[in-house]
Amino acid sequence: MTGSTTAHWLAEKEIADIVLVDILEGMPQGKALDMQQSMPIVGKDVRITGSNGYDETANSDIIVITAGIPRKPGMSRDDLLATNSGIVGSAVESTMKNSPDAIYVVLTNPLDVMCFVAMKKGNLSRERIIGQAGILDSARMRAFVATETGVSVENIACYVLGGHGDEMVPLVRHSNIGGLPLDKFISRERLDAIVERTRKGGGEIVSLLKTGSAFYAPAAAVAQMVEAILKNKHLIVPCSVWLEGEYGLSDMFFGVPAQLGRNGLERVHEYELTPAEKEMLDASAAAVRETMQSLKI
Ligand code: LAC
Repeated sequence: MTGSTTAHWLAEKEIADIVLVDILEGMPQGKALDMQQSMPIVGKDVRITGSNGYDETANSDIIVITAGIPRKPGMSRDDLLATNSGIVGSAVESTMKNSPDAIYVVLTNPLDVMCFVAMKKGNLSRERIIGQAGILDSARMRAFVATETGVSVENIACYVLGGHGDEMVPLVRHSNIGGLPLDKFISRERLDAIVERTRKGGGEIVSLLKTGSAFYAPAAAVAQMVEAILKNKHLIVPCSVWLEGEYGLSDMFFGVPAQLGRNGLERVHEYELTPAEKEMLDASAAAVRETMQSLKI
């Protein structure tokens, strides 16, 4: 669902032709055809193709990897590790053959570690491999703040950094509503509840859907990244990127404010953190490292 929904958001933006790939026979072809037939109605000239192989993806500018099994109720993102690392690894190997210059955007969970798998398999430079999680986590927090205050989502800026797991770090102090601190609008107690709900935001949806995980918001987040790259926007958004000393962390993918443009990752921005915020970030990093260690590739 995340792949086809990403295609849907992207087609609406009319910024790229799209190829959907899946192993299920007929599924990507059927979804592509259905979407293609909606283009005259919405007035977008986008070509959407479905395939069970990779030939049609040749010379892609961007490869979005959403493939993998999703969580079922009671599962953590880490429970998906072994199965999804095989799927992500083979998707990278197969796409690299005919799109040697593509930039990769990864959505498969456990996200930060799947980015590492993709980077290793493709021997990619860090500019070319970016994981989607922080835009989604931040959007969840923004949505909760908007509902709580009644203020437009456009006025609400929230920043969630760290690994894409329950230890993620919603940065309340850096978030704001029209430039004003959140605690001008929301009591400390309600803010704490929003932070907690944001951290568990993916699990909340898994337990409601019962058959899979979220797809509208994760896909919208990927589409925003793709647009930033294709349009060379130099957009700063929270993404999972390979760290080389930023935030005191190295040799791991982790959610940080990343600037995206035509060449992929342009720059990592560093917030000044209080000791308490740094401690939360380090706890989140430790959780990502623990998952990395159980990886067998
Ligand atoms: C979520 C899954 C997709 O956070 O990681 O909804």
